[in-house]
Amino acid sequence: MSSAFAGASGAPAPRAAGTDEATGPFGLPIDPALAAEVQEGLAAVESLLMESVHSEDPMLAQASKHLVEAGGKRFRPMLVLLAAQFGDPAAAGVVPAAVVVELTHLATLYHDDVMDEATVRRGQPSANSRWTNTVAILTGDYLFARASDLLADLGPDAVRIQARSFARLVRGQIQETVGAAPECDPLEHYLQVVADKTASLIATSGRFGALLSGAPPHVVDTVTSASEKIGVAFQLSDDILDIASDTEQSGKTPGTDLREGIRTLPMHHVLAGVGSGPGDARLRELLGQDLSGDAPHAEALALLRAHPAMDRARADLRRWAEDARAELLTLPDIPARSAFTGLCDYVVSRTG
Ligand code: IPE
Ligand code: IPE
Ligand code: MG
Ligand code: MG
Repeated sequence: MSSAFAGASGAPAPRAAGTDEATGPFGLPIDPALAAEVQEGLAAVESLLMESVHSEDPMLAQASKHLVEAGGKRFRPMLVLLAAQFGDPAAAGVVPAAVVVELTHLATLYHDDVMDEATVRRGQPSANSRWTNTVAILTGDYLFARASDLLADLGPDAVRIQARSFARLVRGQIQETVGAAPECDPLEHYLQVVADKTASLIATSGRFGALLSGAPPHVVDTVTSASEKIGVAFQLSDDILDIASDTEQSGKTPGTDLREGIRTLPMHHVLAGVGSGPGDARLRELLGQDLSGDAPHAEALALLRAHPAMDRARADLRRWAEDARAELLTLPDIPARSAFTGLCDYVVSRTG
Protein backbone atom coordinates (compact mmCIF):
# COMPACT_ATOMS: atom_id res chain seq x y z
CA MET A 1 0.00 0.00 0.00
CA SER A 2 1.12 3.52 -0.62
CA SER A 3 -0.13 5.32 2.46
CA ALA A 4 3.31 6.33 3.59
CA PHE A 5 3.64 8.39 0.48
CA ALA A 6 0.22 9.91 0.02
CA GLY A 7 -2.43 9.15 2.58
CA ALA A 8 -4.98 11.17 4.44
CA SER A 9 -1.83 12.89 5.57
CA GLY A 10 -1.25 14.79 2.38
CA ALA A 11 2.36 13.58 2.42
CA PRO A 12 3.62 14.23 -1.06
CA ALA A 13 4.23 11.39 -3.47
CA PRO A 14 7.85 10.62 -4.32
CA ARG A 15 9.32 12.09 -7.48
CA ALA A 16 10.52 9.46 -9.90
CA ALA A 17 14.13 8.49 -9.28
CA GLY A 18 16.71 9.09 -11.95
CA THR A 19 18.35 12.24 -10.68
CA ASP A 20 20.99 12.36 -7.98
CA GLU A 21 18.47 13.41 -5.43
CA ALA A 22 14.83 12.43 -5.59
CA THR A 23 12.14 13.75 -3.33
CA GLY A 24 11.08 10.88 -1.13
CA PRO A 25 8.32 10.36 1.40
CA PHE A 26 7.46 13.53 3.35
CA GLY A 27 9.23 15.45 0.59
CA LEU A 28 12.57 14.33 1.98
CA PRO A 29 15.75 15.02 0.06
CA ILE A 30 16.83 11.43 -0.26
CA ASP A 31 19.30 9.77 -2.58
CA PRO A 32 17.82 7.11 -4.86
CA ALA A 33 19.61 4.17 -3.24
CA LEU A 34 18.42 5.17 0.21
CA ALA A 35 14.91 5.87 -1.14
CA ALA A 36 14.74 2.35 -2.54
CA GLU A 37 16.00 0.86 0.71
CA VAL A 38 13.51 2.84 2.79
CA GLN A 39 10.70 1.90 0.41
CA GLU A 40 11.59 -1.74 0.85
CA GLY A 41 11.69 -1.32 4.63
CA LEU A 42 8.28 0.36 4.64
CA ALA A 43 6.85 -2.48 2.56
CA ALA A 44 8.18 -4.99 5.09
CA VAL A 45 6.66 -2.88 7.87
CA GLU A 46 3.27 -2.95 6.10
CA SER A 47 3.19 -6.70 5.77
CA LEU A 48 4.24 -7.34 9.37
CA LEU A 49 1.72 -4.73 10.50
CA MET A 50 -1.11 -6.48 8.67
CA GLU A 51 0.01 -9.84 10.02
CA SER A 52 0.16 -8.43 13.55
CA VAL A 53 -3.35 -7.04 13.60
CA HIS A 54 -4.93 -10.27 12.47
CA SER A 55 -7.22 -11.99 14.97
CA GLU A 56 -9.29 -15.15 15.01
CA ASP A 57 -12.10 -12.99 16.28
CA PRO A 58 -13.81 -11.32 13.30
CA MET A 59 -14.84 -8.18 15.22
CA LEU A 60 -11.34 -7.64 16.58
CA ALA A 61 -9.77 -8.34 13.20
CA GLN A 62 -12.09 -5.92 11.44
CA ALA A 63 -11.76 -3.14 14.01
CA SER A 64 -7.96 -3.51 14.14
CA LYS A 65 -7.54 -3.46 10.39
CA HIS A 66 -9.84 -0.48 10.09
CA LEU A 67 -7.25 2.22 10.86
CA VAL A 68 -4.25 0.32 9.49
CA GLU A 69 -5.95 0.18 6.12
CA ALA A 70 -7.14 3.77 6.37
CA GLY A 71 -3.53 4.85 5.82
CA GLY A 72 -1.66 7.34 7.93
CA LYS A 73 1.76 8.79 7.38
CA ARG A 74 3.83 6.02 9.01
CA PHE A 75 6.00 8.82 10.38
CA ARG A 76 7.30 6.76 13.32
CA PRO A 77 8.26 3.67 11.27
CA MET A 78 10.03 6.02 8.87
CA LEU A 79 12.05 7.44 11.77
CA VAL A 80 13.01 3.93 12.87
CA LEU A 81 14.20 3.09 9.36
CA LEU A 82 16.19 6.31 8.93
CA ALA A 83 17.78 6.01 12.37
CA ALA A 84 18.78 2.42 11.55
CA GLN A 85 20.94 3.77 8.74
CA PHE A 86 23.45 4.86 11.39
CA GLY A 87 24.12 1.18 12.11
CA ASP A 88 23.21 -1.95 10.16
CA PRO A 89 19.82 -1.17 8.63
CA ALA A 90 19.29 -4.84 7.82
CA ALA A 91 19.59 -5.88 11.49
CA ALA A 92 16.81 -8.29 12.49
CA GLY A 93 15.09 -6.04 15.04
CA VAL A 94 14.64 -2.96 12.86
CA VAL A 95 11.42 -3.80 10.99
CA PRO A 96 9.71 -5.35 14.06
CA ALA A 97 10.64 -2.23 16.07
CA ALA A 98 9.08 -0.04 13.37
CA VAL A 99 5.91 -2.14 13.63
CA VAL A 100 5.96 -1.90 17.43
CA VAL A 101 5.98 1.91 17.36
CA GLU A 102 3.26 2.10 14.71
CA LEU A 103 1.07 -0.39 16.63
CA THR A 104 1.58 1.59 19.84
CA HIS A 105 0.75 4.81 18.02
CA LEU A 106 -2.33 3.22 16.46
CA ALA A 107 -3.52 1.96 19.83
CA THR A 108 -3.23 5.47 21.26
CA LEU A 109 -5.26 6.82 18.33
CA TYR A 110 -8.13 4.41 19.08
CA HIS A 111 -8.09 5.54 22.69
CA ASP A 112 -7.51 9.21 21.92
CA ASP A 113 -10.55 9.35 19.64
CA VAL A 114 -12.68 8.05 22.49
CA MET A 115 -11.23 10.72 24.78
CA ASP A 116 -11.70 13.47 22.19
CA GLU A 117 -15.07 12.16 20.97
CA ALA A 118 -13.57 12.36 17.50
CA THR A 119 -15.68 11.07 14.63
CA VAL A 120 -13.11 11.08 11.82
CA ARG A 121 -9.60 9.60 11.71
CA ARG A 122 -7.34 9.06 8.72
CA GLY A 123 -10.20 10.27 6.56
CA GLN A 124 -12.46 7.46 7.78
CA PRO A 125 -15.05 7.20 10.54
CA SER A 126 -13.18 6.72 13.83
CA ALA A 127 -13.60 3.29 15.46
CA ASN A 128 -15.65 4.79 18.29
CA SER A 129 -18.08 6.36 15.85
CA ARG A 130 -18.20 3.40 13.46
CA TRP A 131 -18.69 0.92 16.30
CA THR A 132 -18.74 1.99 19.97
CA ASN A 133 -16.37 3.37 22.61
CA THR A 134 -16.09 -0.14 24.03
CA VAL A 135 -14.96 -1.60 20.72
CA ALA A 136 -12.46 1.26 20.22
CA ILE A 137 -10.98 0.86 23.71
CA LEU A 138 -10.67 -2.91 23.45
CA THR A 139 -9.17 -2.70 19.97
CA GLY A 140 -6.57 -0.25 21.29
CA ASP A 141 -5.79 -2.68 24.09
CA TYR A 142 -5.46 -5.50 21.58
CA LEU A 143 -2.98 -3.48 19.51
CA PHE A 144 -0.89 -2.79 22.64
CA ALA A 145 -0.86 -6.52 23.29
CA ARG A 146 0.25 -7.22 19.73
CA ALA A 147 3.03 -4.64 20.08
CA SER A 148 4.19 -6.29 23.32
CA ASP A 149 4.29 -9.65 21.59
CA LEU A 150 6.74 -8.33 18.99
CA LEU A 151 8.71 -6.46 21.63
CA ALA A 152 9.37 -9.65 23.56
CA ASP A 153 11.71 -10.76 20.76
CA LEU A 154 13.64 -7.48 20.87
CA GLY A 155 14.94 -8.10 24.39
CA PRO A 156 14.45 -6.64 27.87
CA ASP A 157 16.10 -3.29 27.07
CA ALA A 158 13.67 -2.66 24.24
CA VAL A 159 10.74 -3.72 26.43
CA ARG A 160 11.86 -1.28 29.15
CA ILE A 161 12.35 1.60 26.72
CA GLN A 162 8.91 1.03 25.26
CA ALA A 163 7.27 0.66 28.69
CA ARG A 164 8.79 3.93 29.86
CA SER A 165 7.86 5.90 26.79
CA PHE A 166 4.34 4.51 26.98
CA ALA A 167 4.14 5.56 30.64
CA ARG A 168 5.22 9.07 29.59
CA LEU A 169 2.60 9.07 26.85
CA VAL A 170 -0.16 8.15 29.29
CA ARG A 171 1.06 10.77 31.77
CA GLY A 172 0.91 13.38 29.00
CA GLN A 173 -2.63 12.42 28.08
CA ILE A 174 -3.79 12.51 31.71
CA GLN A 175 -2.01 15.82 32.35
CA GLU A 176 -3.75 17.28 29.34
CA THR A 177 -7.09 16.02 30.63
CA VAL A 178 -6.52 17.37 34.15
CA GLY A 179 -5.09 20.70 32.94
CA ALA A 180 -2.53 23.02 34.52
CA ALA A 181 -2.71 23.56 38.26
CA PRO A 182 -3.39 27.23 39.17
CA GLU A 183 0.19 27.75 40.38
CA CYS A 184 1.66 26.35 37.13
CA ASP A 185 2.65 28.33 34.08
CA PRO A 186 0.09 27.15 31.46
CA LEU A 187 2.57 27.30 28.59
CA GLU A 188 5.12 25.24 30.49
CA HIS A 189 2.42 22.73 31.34
CA TYR A 190 1.38 22.58 27.69
CA LEU A 191 4.95 21.93 26.49
CA GLN A 192 5.38 19.19 29.07
CA VAL A 193 2.16 17.56 27.88
CA VAL A 194 3.30 17.73 24.26
CA ALA A 195 6.68 16.22 25.09
CA ASP A 196 5.12 13.42 27.11
CA LYS A 197 2.15 12.49 24.98
CA THR A 198 3.81 12.71 21.57
CA ALA A 199 7.58 13.28 21.67
CA SER A 200 8.06 10.26 23.95
CA LEU A 201 7.07 7.74 21.26
CA ILE A 202 8.76 9.68 18.45
CA ALA A 203 12.00 9.78 20.48
CA THR A 204 11.66 6.04 21.08
CA SER A 205 11.22 5.49 17.34
CA GLY A 206 14.57 7.15 16.63
CA ARG A 207 16.16 5.38 19.55
CA PHE A 208 14.94 1.94 18.49
CA GLY A 209 16.27 2.41 14.98
CA ALA A 210 19.71 3.50 16.15
CA LEU A 211 19.93 1.01 19.02
CA LEU A 212 18.68 -2.08 17.22
CA SER A 213 20.88 -1.42 14.22
CA GLY A 214 23.88 -1.42 16.55
CA ALA A 215 24.84 2.26 16.10
CA PRO A 216 27.42 3.56 18.62
CA PRO A 217 25.98 4.81 21.95
CA HIS A 218 26.71 8.50 21.30
CA VAL A 219 24.82 8.24 18.00
CA VAL A 220 21.90 6.53 19.77
CA ASP A 221 21.82 9.40 22.29
CA THR A 222 21.94 12.13 19.66
CA VAL A 223 19.28 10.49 17.48
CA THR A 224 17.04 10.06 20.55
CA SER A 225 17.44 13.64 21.67
CA ALA A 226 16.91 15.08 18.18
CA SER A 227 13.88 12.82 17.66
CA GLU A 228 12.38 14.09 20.92
CA LYS A 229 12.62 17.65 19.54
CA ILE A 230 11.14 16.53 16.23
CA GLY A 231 8.37 14.96 18.29
CA VAL A 232 7.58 18.23 20.08
CA ALA A 233 7.62 20.04 16.73
CA PHE A 234 5.36 17.33 15.29
CA GLN A 235 2.70 17.92 17.96
CA LEU A 236 2.99 21.71 17.65
CA SER A 237 2.35 21.34 13.93
CA ASP A 238 -0.57 18.98 14.61
CA ASP A 239 -2.04 21.58 16.98
CA ILE A 240 -1.65 24.33 14.38
CA LEU A 241 -3.22 22.07 11.75
CA ASP A 242 -6.13 21.28 14.06
CA ILE A 243 -7.02 24.95 13.71
CA ALA A 244 -5.81 25.81 10.22
CA SER A 245 -6.50 22.75 8.07
CA ASP A 246 -9.60 21.11 6.70
CA THR A 247 -10.59 17.44 6.86
CA GLU A 248 -9.28 16.79 3.37
CA GLN A 249 -5.78 17.73 4.47
CA SER A 250 -5.71 16.27 7.98
CA GLY A 251 -8.15 13.37 7.72
CA LYS A 252 -9.60 14.67 11.02
CA THR A 253 -12.26 17.18 12.08
CA PRO A 254 -10.90 20.73 12.31
CA GLY A 255 -11.25 22.53 15.61
CA THR A 256 -11.43 19.36 17.72
CA ASP A 257 -9.10 20.83 20.36
CA LEU A 258 -11.29 23.94 20.71
CA ARG A 259 -14.43 21.88 20.93
CA GLU A 260 -12.90 19.63 23.59
CA GLY A 261 -11.61 22.60 25.60
CA ILE A 262 -7.98 21.60 25.04
CA ARG A 263 -5.76 24.68 25.01
CA THR A 264 -3.01 24.46 22.43
CA LEU A 265 -0.13 26.78 21.60
CA PRO A 266 -2.00 29.39 19.50
CA MET A 267 -4.66 29.65 22.22
CA HIS A 268 -2.03 30.11 24.91
CA HIS A 269 -0.53 32.91 22.84
CA VAL A 270 -3.92 34.59 22.46
CA LEU A 271 -4.52 34.39 26.21
CA ALA A 272 -1.03 35.70 26.92
CA GLY A 273 -1.77 38.77 24.81
CA VAL A 274 0.30 38.02 21.71
CA GLY A 275 -0.75 40.33 18.89
CA SER A 276 -3.99 42.16 18.86
CA GLY A 277 -6.76 42.77 16.44
CA PRO A 278 -10.43 43.54 16.17
CA GLY A 279 -11.51 40.06 17.27
CA ASP A 280 -9.01 39.77 20.08
CA ALA A 281 -11.22 40.55 23.08
CA ARG A 282 -14.06 38.43 21.74
CA LEU A 283 -11.72 35.49 21.11
CA ARG A 284 -10.36 35.65 24.65
CA GLU A 285 -13.89 35.69 25.96
CA LEU A 286 -14.79 32.65 23.84
CA LEU A 287 -11.68 30.76 24.98
CA GLY A 288 -12.98 31.04 28.53
CA GLN A 289 -16.26 29.43 27.55
CA ASP A 290 -17.63 26.05 26.62
CA LEU A 291 -17.13 25.72 22.85
CA SER A 292 -18.95 22.46 22.32
CA GLY A 293 -21.90 24.19 20.61
CA ASP A 294 -21.65 24.73 16.84
CA ALA A 295 -22.12 28.52 16.77
CA PRO A 296 -19.52 29.59 19.39
CA HIS A 297 -17.15 26.93 18.08
CA ALA A 298 -17.35 28.23 14.51
CA GLU A 299 -16.89 31.80 15.71
CA ALA A 300 -13.84 30.94 17.84
CA LEU A 301 -12.29 28.87 15.06
CA ALA A 302 -12.67 31.68 12.52
CA LEU A 303 -11.19 34.27 14.91
CA LEU A 304 -8.32 32.00 15.86
CA ARG A 305 -7.46 31.20 12.25
CA ALA A 306 -7.07 34.92 11.52
CA HIS A 307 -5.20 35.76 14.74
CA PRO A 308 -1.49 36.72 14.81
CA ALA A 309 -1.03 34.05 17.51
CA MET A 310 -1.02 31.50 14.67
CA ASP A 311 2.13 33.03 13.18
CA ARG A 312 3.74 33.14 16.60
CA ALA A 313 2.99 29.43 17.02
CA ARG A 314 4.50 28.76 13.59
CA ALA A 315 7.64 30.64 14.66
CA ASP A 316 7.86 28.49 17.81
CA LEU A 317 7.47 25.40 15.65
CA ARG A 318 10.32 26.53 13.38
CA ARG A 319 12.57 26.98 16.41
CA TRP A 320 11.95 23.46 17.66
CA ALA A 321 12.62 22.08 14.19
CA GLU A 322 15.81 24.15 13.90
CA ASP A 323 17.06 22.87 17.27
CA ALA A 324 16.44 19.30 16.13
CA ARG A 325 18.28 19.96 12.88
CA ALA A 326 21.29 21.47 14.68
CA GLU A 327 21.55 18.36 16.79
CA LEU A 328 21.25 16.04 13.79
CA LEU A 329 24.06 17.89 12.06
CA THR A 330 26.48 16.59 14.71
CA LEU A 331 25.86 13.05 13.40
CA PRO A 332 28.02 11.36 10.73
CA ASP A 333 27.30 12.85 7.31
CA ILE A 334 25.61 9.90 5.61
CA PRO A 335 22.66 10.19 3.16
CA ALA A 336 20.21 9.33 5.95
CA ARG A 337 21.29 12.45 7.82
CA SER A 338 19.93 14.78 5.17
CA ALA A 339 16.75 12.71 4.92
CA PHE A 340 16.48 13.02 8.71
CA THR A 341 16.96 16.80 8.62
CA GLY A 342 14.34 16.81 5.84
CA LEU A 343 11.86 15.56 8.46
CA CYS A 344 12.52 18.82 10.35
CA ASP A 345 11.48 20.74 7.22
CA TYR A 346 8.47 18.48 6.75
CA VAL A 347 7.01 19.17 10.20
CA VAL A 348 7.28 22.90 9.54
CA SER A 349 6.12 22.93 5.93
CA ARG A 350 3.03 20.82 6.53
CA THR A 351 1.47 23.70 8.44
CA GLY A 352 1.66 25.85 5.28
C1 IPE B 1 -1.53 11.91 15.17
O1 IPE B 1 -0.35 11.36 14.68
C2 IPE B 1 -1.44 11.98 16.67
C3 IPE B 1 -0.36 12.86 17.14
C4 IPE B 1 0.53 12.46 17.98
C5 IPE B 1 -0.31 14.23 16.68
P1 IPE B 1 -0.02 11.28 13.14
O2 IPE B 1 -0.20 12.64 12.54
O3 IPE B 1 1.29 10.63 12.95
O4 IPE B 1 -1.19 10.36 12.61
P2 IPE B 1 -1.19 9.33 11.37
O5 IPE B 1 -0.43 8.13 11.82
O6 IPE B 1 -0.55 9.99 10.18
O7 IPE B 1 -2.65 9.05 11.14
C1 IPE C 1 -2.98 13.04 20.85
O1 IPE C 1 -2.94 14.37 20.47
C2 IPE C 1 -1.63 12.47 20.81
C3 IPE C 1 -1.62 11.05 21.20
C4 IPE C 1 -0.80 10.61 22.07
C5 IPE C 1 -2.55 10.11 20.56
P1 IPE C 1 -4.14 14.89 19.58
O2 IPE C 1 -5.44 14.65 20.24
O3 IPE C 1 -3.84 16.27 19.12
O4 IPE C 1 -4.03 13.92 18.31
P2 IPE C 1 -5.06 13.98 17.11
O5 IPE C 1 -5.10 15.40 16.63
O6 IPE C 1 -6.37 13.52 17.65
O7 IPE C 1 -4.48 13.07 16.07
MG1 MG D 1 -7.16 13.72 19.49
MG1 MG E 1 -4.46 17.05 17.27
